[in-house]
Amino acid sequence: MDQFSSSDFGAAFKWGVAISAFQNEGAHDAQGKGMSVWDAFTARKGKIKDGTHARHACNFFELYAEDIALAKQMGFTVFRFSLSWCRIIPNGTGAVNQAGIDFYHRVIDACLAAGLEPYVTLYHWDLPQALEQKGGWCHRGTVFAFEAFAALCARAYGHKVKNWLVLNEPFGFTSLGYMLGVHAPGKFGLSYFLPAVHHVALAQAEGGRALRAEAPGARVGTTYSCSQIIPYTTNNNDLQAARRADALFNRLFIEPSLGMGYPADAFPLLKRIERRYALWRDWEKLPFHFDFIGLQNYFPLVVRYNAFMPYVQASEVKARYRQVPLTGLGWEISGQGMYSILQQFAAYKGVKEIMVTESGAAFDDVLRNGEVKDDERIRYFQEYLSAVLLAKRSGVPVSGYFAWTLTDNFEWAEGYKARFGLVHVDFDTQRRTMKDSGKWFRELLAQPAPQSAKRRGPEAASR
Ligand code: GAL
Repeated sequence: MDQFSSSDFGAAFKWGVAISAFQNEGAHDAQGKGMSVWDAFTARKGKIKDGTHARHACNFFELYAEDIALAKQMGFTVFRFSLSWCRIIPNGTGAVNQAGIDFYHRVIDACLAAGLEPYVTLYHWDLPQALEQKGGWCHRGTVFAFEAFAALCARAYGHKVKNWLVLNEPFGFTSLGYMLGVHAPGKFGLSYFLPAVHHVALAQAEGGRALRAEAPGARVGTTYSCSQIIPYTTNNNDLQAARRADALFNRLFIEPSLGMGYPADAFPLLKRIERRYALWRDWEKLPFHFDFIGLQNYFPLVVRYNAFMPYVQASEVKARYRQVPLTGLGWEISGQGMYSILQQFAAYKGVKEIMVTESGAAFDDVLRNGEVKDDERIRYFQEYLSAVLLAKRSGVPVSGYFAWTLTDNFEWAEGYKARFGLVHVDFDTQRRTMKDSGKWFRELLAQPAPQSAKRRGPEAASR
């Protein structure tokens, strides 16, 4: 399928754009904000590729009205953003910072005034540093602190916000931050990773329960990173390696929420969670019935057996050695990967509704004469959206697609070089310029034209 219009997805389909607090807001110490693990991590030498930090980022804190107006101009009807826990509760627990509460009221009000539905993520990786000092996600106290934060946010905003996401990509931040040490808080090894996994899995459920209790009628979801896992060969070692990778990359957090426990069948090491970190009755606390789940798929992974890789005994066959189309970060572009992961998650009995809560690509954009001609990004969206449509037509209950991301922002350990935005940002002047991909969405999402002049996705791209 290479042609589609937005109406092919149905009138109820939600079209959104997503950002996150730490990557966009800047204003790192404004108006009583506390410090997060990412403020601390970026201050450490050598952690961020281009040596940058996010103290100012793309200054969403001051420019939110302009950014929300841009999202509206492009035709989106959903705006997904996250709350900075330490802007609201500077130390993670205890005193509340009214200025932080007020900031998000302004953002929510601006969305509502523009006709954009706010989808609010409670936690997009920026744990208050004060909690990290007590052990962070390795410490059970963080679960209780998170539950209280969730309840507070639901009480503050529940009358305005109907759609919530508890966590952003639990596997993303536990693996990169607590196993590999390449993201905040920079811890590595199983003795950090396994307790972090368990406490985060508990927090996803407790956070969901707190939202539901304090914001009756809210739709409560959460997001998962996911990748189609492809065994390099059909020999048994590679097949088993792929099963282990699938357990980690795709099953680790959704299965406990569905009451299935951790996927120790494929990755027996996870039994250690039960032996060492779980307390009596934790198994009753892990399940939570989400109204919908958010899937975030960027690339598939080809995996082969590797006896030298500790624990998982598997390694990735990098996309750059496989002659496949790549993004600027060397990630494989594969609509097939998106299609397959939607099928995989739709096959869980407990999953009733799926939204693609992030999808996008970084390329080496160039701003020339007031334009960014990012045709590769347009092709990326065409391919991934075609895959979503195909999956929807085959019966997958997918009800929305949110592009990552609105403006170029701080791309974690990659710094500012990896530009994912539909809008270009000059980080010296904070000037915004809509890229061709943003204009492409504007065409795609424009009110349906009369049948004879119906706008087609790919045609708009070639304009
Ligand atoms: C996701 C993450 C986003 C964004 C994106 C692109 O994993 O949730 O914050 O950085 O990847 O790398």
